[in-house]
Amino acid sequence: MKVFQEKPVVETFCCAKEFAEAYNIGRGDFILASRSVYEKYFVPLKLEAHVKYKGKYGKGEPTDGMIDDLLADFRQSGCGRIFAVGGGAVIDMAKLLVLDGDARAEKYFLREAPLKKVRRLIAVPTTCGAGSEVSNVSIAELSSMKSKLGLAADEIYADAAVLIPELLTELPYFYFATSAIDAFIHAIESYLSPKANLYTEMFSERAMEMILSGFGRILSEGEEARKELLSDFLTASNLAGVAFGNAGTGMVHAISYPLSGKYHVAHGEANYQFLTAVFAFYQKECPEGKIQKLNRFLGRNLGCGDWEVYGELARLFDQIIARKKLREYGMEKEEIEVFAESVEKSQGRLLSQSYVKPTAGQMAEVYRKLW
Ligand SMILES: [Fe+2]
Repeated sequence: MKVFQEKPVVETFCCAKEFAEAYNIGRGDFILASRSVYEKYFVPLKLEAHVKYKGKYGKGEPTDGMIDDLLADFRQSGCGRIFAVGGGAVIDMAKLLVLDGDARAEKYFLREAPLKKVRRLIAVPTTCGAGSEVSNVSIAELSSMKSKLGLAADEIYADAAVLIPELLTELPYFYFATSAIDAFIHAIESYLSPKANLYTEMFSERAMEMILSGFGRILSEGEEARKELLSDFLTASNLAGVAFGNAGTGMVHAISYPLSGKYHVAHGEANYQFLTAVFAFYQKECPEGKIQKLNRFLGRNLGCGDWEVYGELARLFDQIIARKKLREYGMEKEEIEVFAESVEKSQGRLLSQSYVKPTAGQMAEVYRKLW
């Protein structure tokens, strides 16, 4: 039984220039990037690479249609090496470019086309949340399913995960906060996954410690304090990515997908809406299991008793970003059951990685509580 692997080489560079020189980026290289970061840090370097901005393909999180358009541009470019410079959406989209063949994105996601890696991918995250640079997962909204689906396959691992804290300098506070909370959720969900083990727990624990301590500092010193913590948050996100890349995420991610898919709520923000309600459900359903170890760990880090860690987490995170009622995002009451059933139908992979595998009825209960 495989317990752990960390496939991409992890590298750090002080700045974009040092990175571009080390890789000798030029003709024959294809770069998919977030426009704002690329224009500020890479355009002055006058690279001769073939550059496409993610915005060309659509706003927000990837859909199979957006990836199809990207695949068409890439196949026309004749490039061999791929660089993804952006948040989770950019890296997730670029992961499909390493694959052989001329299939549409949906075929790869449904595994109806063979997955054969034939190109190198260098992933450069510009948020501190997704951890996609070290995971073997790509997530997209499939129009035929009207829901998100994750493709988890070793063939789509990046070859290198490159951390450049400079690229996060201009990241607005809201995106910084939601992505950091997403990273925390990767760490905490993978910690309780049935696939967790000593190796993945070490990565989860360190990531949670670094994020909680960073948030503590931001709350006492103000939002601007994050600028001194970018390297810590980028590293914590990477560690959490290694943990969930091996042990997986669970019910929080699964249950948030219909909300972020239909109402276009940012991934980290959508996840956060469900974090404490899902862990309260776990606590109620299986209080004697591994959650006790997690509660002791969180209690030590939050300076509170084991029995009050989720209330304390909510108190801390609510000061970082606000939680809303689900109806404030536009969700209709009638969608409570619809969402729960769609998660049961389409998120089997994530639900089986949950600490307690919920029924559709139990998920509807969580939605109802938060609606
Ligand atoms: Fe996530």
